[in-house]
Amino acid sequence: MTSIRITAVKLHLLSALSLMLLMFASSAAVFAQQPGADGLGDRLYPRLGNGGYDVRHYSIDLAFKPESKAIAATALLEAVALVDLASFNLDLYELTVNSVRVDDIRAAFTREEAELVISPEAYIPAGAAFQVAITYAGVPQPIADPAVPWVKLGWQEWADGYFAAVSQPSGSMNWFPCNNHPLDKATYSFRITVPQGLTAVANGVLRETIANDNDTRVFVWEMQQPMASYLALVAIGDFVAARDDSGSVPIRNFFPVGASDASIAGYAVTGDMMAWLTELLGPYPFAEYGVVAVPGFPGALESQSLSIFGASGPADSVLLHELLHQWFGNSVTLAHWSDIWLHEGFATYFIALWREKQFGADAYSTFINALRTSAMALKAPGNPEKSELFAWSVYARGALVLHALRGEVGDETFFEILRTFYRENAYSNVDTADFIAVAEGLSEAELEDLFAAWLYGERIPDLP
Ligand code: ARG
Ligand code: ZN
Repeated sequence: MTSIRITAVKLHLLSALSLMLLMFASSAAVFAQQPGADGLGDRLYPRLGNGGYDVRHYSIDLAFKPESKAIAATALLEAVALVDLASFNLDLYELTVNSVRVDDIRAAFTREEAELVISPEAYIPAGAAFQVAITYAGVPQPIADPAVPWVKLGWQEWADGYFAAVSQPSGSMNWFPCNNHPLDKATYSFRITVPQGLTAVANGVLRETIANDNDTRVFVWEMQQPMASYLALVAIGDFVAARDDSGSVPIRNFFPVGASDASIAGYAVTGDMMAWLTELLGPYPFAEYGVVAVPGFPGALESQSLSIFGASGPADSVLLHELLHQWFGNSVTLAHWSDIWLHEGFATYFIALWREKQFGADAYSTFINALRTSAMALKAPGNPEKSELFAWSVYARGALVLHALRGEVGDETFFEILRTFYRENAYSNVDTADFIAVAEGLSEAELEDLFAAWLYGERIPDLP
């Protein structure tokens, strides 16, 4: 799903296409059929995502067998061609592809590393809607991504009997074929079949649970808002659901059977945080929220509408951080991975705001000062290499960008900037220039120097 609003970002998405048209412009073949690009031009991940088409919806019908740890699935992608498409790529890591059909006609395909190259029988004209059905199977193989050297990405077993796909940035292609870059958001439906006794949790709303005759159950989940592929999550295990419909957003959490009361109690503050963020930023972007706590999972990740945590119970700060990402990260999403401070800096800064709301201005300052001290000797956060995507500077100095901006423009304008940046870019993609434009527009101030110093300057600036 590519939004209609044309921003710098969309131009970026289309740049590969325009370049090709330019190259053909002097020949007769302006409208020649062409292969879709094997990437979307991301500086850090040149081969993630694919060009030439736009996925609107994924339907993933997947059966899981815990004994063999294997999946057997059909992914049906509804897409639109952006050019006259002779062939196109999807990202898929390992697994065995059994068949590919385009508009229900068998299509040829080849595999090359993590690219699945599909050649339909006839080319797909620009603007045409088309469907691709891929039937595939195997044991998902975790992906080593230099951005997260401490963990492997994608579908895997985290503790005996607990499986989950955790994918930021590249992991989703280890369990479904996708246009694996945040620029191509889409809606999703999941039909996950598991043995009786296990629960399959996924993004969005649980539509139904179907008991089959053969001692399996199907969990049907639907994510009706656009979602980046790295935010897709399926978790399978012996989970107990806990639901709270008392607030404006239903909260459904999934805890491993036998989870301690103390670990569960740590999530009770979610409703208060939700109410506060909604007031500060605007409505929560998705239909429901909640967490899934997965034994053995290290850390936390803001999967869309369903953050994933380990089993030990959350720190308040992490709970807030992942909830904040639903606005900044999941609804408003980076256009290229090097702008990750727009996610992590924002989510970290909101911990300071939460401290301020709970304990007052001194608590805010203490937190801000600690961030600056911790980032003192670190590299600037604005243009990280792949191995620095989740470096502490991105979080700490990234958060201080917002603190510096607040000091410069004053509280009223600052919060108006956050609200406007959110509202104007909900469900879409942004880059740093988009944020600076909103900040300068509303403050009527020249802010290039402030952003340049905090985001790219070698030395960390003094606190305002
Ligand atoms: N974005 C995550 C956070 O909330 C952490 C990212 C690191 N882990 C990962 N699997 N990408 O801070
Ligand atoms: Zn984060």
